This record gives sequence, structure tokens and C-alpha cells, in this order.
Amino acid sequence: MRQDRDNFQAFCGYHQNWKGDYDHELAETDAGTPCGEYLRRYWQPVSITKDLGERPKLIKILGEELVLFRDKSGQIGLVHKNCPHRRASLEFGKCETRGIRCCYHGWLFDVEGTILEIPGEPEDSEPAIRVKQSRRLGAYPVKEFRGLIFAYLGPPREQPRFPVYDAYELPDMVRSPYAAAFQCNWIQVLDAIVDPVHTAFLHQNQFTEGFGICGEMQFYERDKIRFLGTATRRVGENAWVRVNELILPNFTQSGAAFATDGTKTRFFGRSAFTRWVVPVDDENCIAFAWGNFGARGDPIEWNTKEGMEKIEQGEIIDRTYDERQQSPGDAEAVEGMGLISEHEKEYLVTGDRGVTLYRRRIRRLCRNLTKGISPPQPADLADGTIPTYGSDTVIRAPLSDNGEDSALLRRVNDQVMEVIFLGDGKQSSKRDEYIIEALKKL
Ligand code: FES
Ligand SMILES: [Fe+2]
Repeated sequence: MRQDRDNFQAFCGYHQNWKGDYDHELAETDAGTPCGEYLRRYWQPVSITKDLGERPKLIKILGEELVLFRDKSGQIGLVHKNCPHRRASLEFGKCETRGIRCCYHGWLFDVEGTILEIPGEPEDSEPAIRVKQSRRLGAYPVKEFRGLIFAYLGPPREQPRFPVYDAYELPDMVRSPYAAAFQCNWIQVLDAIVDPVHTAFLHQNQFTEGFGICGEMQFYERDKIRFLGTATRRVGENAWVRVNELILPNFTQSGAAFATDGTKTRFFGRSAFTRWVVPVDDENCIAFAWGNFGARGDPIEWNTKEGMEKIEQGEIIDRTYDERQQSPGDAEAVEGMGLISEHEKEYLVTGDRGVTLYRRRIRRLCRNLTKGISPPQPADLADGTIPTYGSDTVIRAPLSDNGEDSALLRRVNDQVMEVIFLGDGKQSSKRDEYIIEALKKL
């Protein structure tokens, strides 16, 4: 038994030298684990389209080694890595007019996994006929959408509708797909989205100056699967409300990275990215995203490789150890925890409320699923396009005479959020217009 007394004395290293356990329920995502099964109930991005060339591509998602390919008729397939004949890897296969052909004995499979040809077997070969009629290669449905390839790895009967978020429909925006790999468990990367404190600390010198202000924080849990962390900062005469957003299991948005510093009014500017944190295995994950550029997103000059790396992690990726120590970004913060963080040794405080709330919800949904209760789907949040909240609003709110700024900033935060929430009742094409007009009147 560890005594608190021991942990509180000076130089108590000896009393804390034990290895803490990680949160198995949330961190493990292989098939058959509670969270692995939970994540498999959703469409997940698995690649950016431009990374898929004429050859098959070996990928790993949720601990499964898979082969992604595009056949010569343009159809995209996502199949199990190993051929059902004698287990050769299909990453060395050939893309044909229809399907993929194994390099070893030439079996041919279509994108649904159907065995189309078994060369070298006589036409009346009983085993060949039997295997064609009774077996398929493991395959998953995919959907290519604006430069990202999504896949559904769950039970076929439970396949949900593909969710369409309002971020896909904002006019006059440039959306650039990107992928950023992290060498750590997915929960470590996901945590940061509902953690407005880290933005003010880790990122204080990486975007605009106002980022360094902590501001007044607020956390929201809505519709069982939406989590918001807001930070309302004082910048001169203005109050700047930045809204970070998580829609379970792993859809994330925030405010802009470079479009505002809080000095000029801005009404419902939208997220720098539209992003998913996808486990590769328990010790690696990838953030797949679009960087969003235009009047409602970040300035178009940041639509570069470096720009998107900064939007994703606060810093560019390829840096020396010295540079990483001088100005750590998200990668340094979350990978530095280790491949899987010792959650048992964490000590959560008020600013971690968003983290506590969403982890608790995921845990509940995973446990429910083990009892046969299907988790809620983003596509069910709206009849059509799903409204999202990741945004920046900067309004004039001069400091009151009594100098009591916290209460004022909290009031501004509440009013802005109320307007944004009221917009949910509006038709999607009218919602942004409504919110912007209402915010201007505040
Ligand atoms: S192992 Fe693939 S065809 Fe034989
Ligand atoms: Fe961050």
C-alpha cells in the first residue's frame, strides 16, 4: 500500500518509482477489445487519396494489417493483408482491371473480396470451385471523399450512414488533406482537443500572441457524443471566444490557428482543421484531416506542407532534438509521455474537465457495446448536415469599471455559446448566417 505520507515528503522519488498501469479500456483498440469494437462502429479515415498510387499500399489501422489498392477501373479496395490461399502478402500483388492479383500463385480478388480467378487449376477442379463458392478474402467498404479515403471496419450489418458535417459545405473554402503520424497511443493525441489550457501554455509562441492567455474556460457535454472546451480571452477591448470540439469517437475541430489574434472582431470564424485521430495500433496513431483555408478558416498562405504541420502540431515535424527542446509542439508533449501513458499516475485538475468528461463517456459507450447496446452515431445528430461548433468569435467587450473581468468574460462566453447553440434549429444553409448576424448584435 502506498502511503500519501511517503509521496509528500521531500525527495520522494523512491516512493514513486513503480510502473503505473495504463487505461486498458480506452487505450487498447485491437479487434475484440471493448474500445476496438467501439471504434469499429464508425467510418474512419485510413489514408489520404494522393498517397495511393498504382501499387497496393500496406497500412495498419486498429491493429489490423491491411492492403489498400485502386484497381485499373478506379475502384478502391481495402482487404486483409494475407492471401487466403497460402498467406502471401497482397502488398506485393498487382492491381488489375478488376481487383488485385496475388503475386504468389495469381489468385484474383475483387474489392468485395470475391475470388474471381484461381489460375493453374483445371476448370472442373473441385477444391477450386468449392473455395470460390465458400470463401472470400477479408474486405472492408471504403468511401473516397475529397482527398481522404474512409473505411468501415465493423460488422457489416451495423454499418452506419456516412456522416456529413457542415464543415464540408462551407462555401469558398480550400480544404487540403493531410496526415500526421504520432508515435503514441491515440488517447494521448485525442486528449489535447478538449484541453484549452495546453493551447495557452504549449502553443503560447507558436500562433498569434493572444494564444498565450489562458482566459476563462468552460466545458460542455451535449447530445451524449459532443464535447466542447472553450477559452474566452481578454485582448484589449475585445473578448475572444475560441471553441474546441470533439464529436465521439474521434472527430475534432477547433478555432483558427493564424486567422485571428483577438484584436479584430470576428464572428463564427471556423476551424483550422477538420480532423480524426485514428489508432494505427496501441502505440501509434495518425491524425487524418483537412486544413481549412479561406475567409472563414485560416489564411490561404498557410496552405503549405509546413503550414499544415504547424496547424496540426504547433511546429513543423522534421526538426533536430535541440529545436524540439527549444520549442516543443504537440508531438513532443504527447509522445514524451511514452508509447502508452501511465494513466494510473496522472493527477487531473479543473482544466482537465474536458478530458475527464469525454473519457468517461467513451468508457460508458464501450461497456454498453459489450452488453449489446450500439453506440450513438454522428449521422443521427441531424437529419441532414451535422452542425459543428469549432470556431472563433471576437467581440467588443470593454473591461468594466469595477475591473471584474472574469465574470464579464464568462458572461460573453455564455452569450456566444447560446447563440451558436440556438443556430442548431436552423436549416444548415441558414445556420451560419443566423449565428453571424446574432453575434454581431451582442
Ligand atoms: S498465396 Fe496467394 S495465390 Fe497463393
Ligand atoms: Fe495542441
